[in-house]
Amino acid sequence: MGHVPLLADASFAQFSQEIGLASLGASDEDVARLATCYFFSVEFGLCKQDGQLRAYGAGLLSSVGELKHALAKESEKHLFEPLLTCKQECLITTFQDVYFYTDSFEEAKEKMRQFAATIRRPFAVRYNPYTQRVEVLDSTRRIATVVSELRGDLCIVSEALRRVQLLETFLKS
Ligand SMILES: [Fe+2]
Repeated sequence: MGHVPLLADASFAQFSQEIGLASLGASDEDVARLATCYFFSVEFGLCKQDGQLRAYGAGLLSSVGELKHALAKESEKHLFEPLLTCKQECLITTFQDVYFYTDSFEEAKEKMRQFAATIRRPFAVRYNPYTQRVEVLDSTRRIATVVSELRGDLCIVSEALRRVQLLETFLKS
């Protein structure tokens, strides 16, 4: 239940899903590294909001004691860096030794993407929102289909940008 409120935030839901997608086809070792990043973000993550540290991890939100401990001055906090965070030990029965924070979900998402790109696997995967399925992009035909869908989205975005720019020029004149 602790996860539900944040999963209603589209940007966060995408972050959570991308960690899962990155694990498909990865080695056991890399899955463990991704799981550790998930643990210190989705479960025990901190994020800055208006310059202040806030908790967003469901493991913190469901524990008053650990929430206080995590936000107290005494507890150790580091910037979320997947390459370093993935080496931290996950503690299941006690409070964490260290917590990781990001300046925004967008930043965490970008860092996880860069980290996921370093994972070796034989194919790429993508979640298709139209079919609500995970697709394995292992043939030029499948990749061409994705490109065509993306082209449609890009068309909408560039048209929206053109309209906003027109409006801005109009307002300035
Ligand atoms: Fe959980």
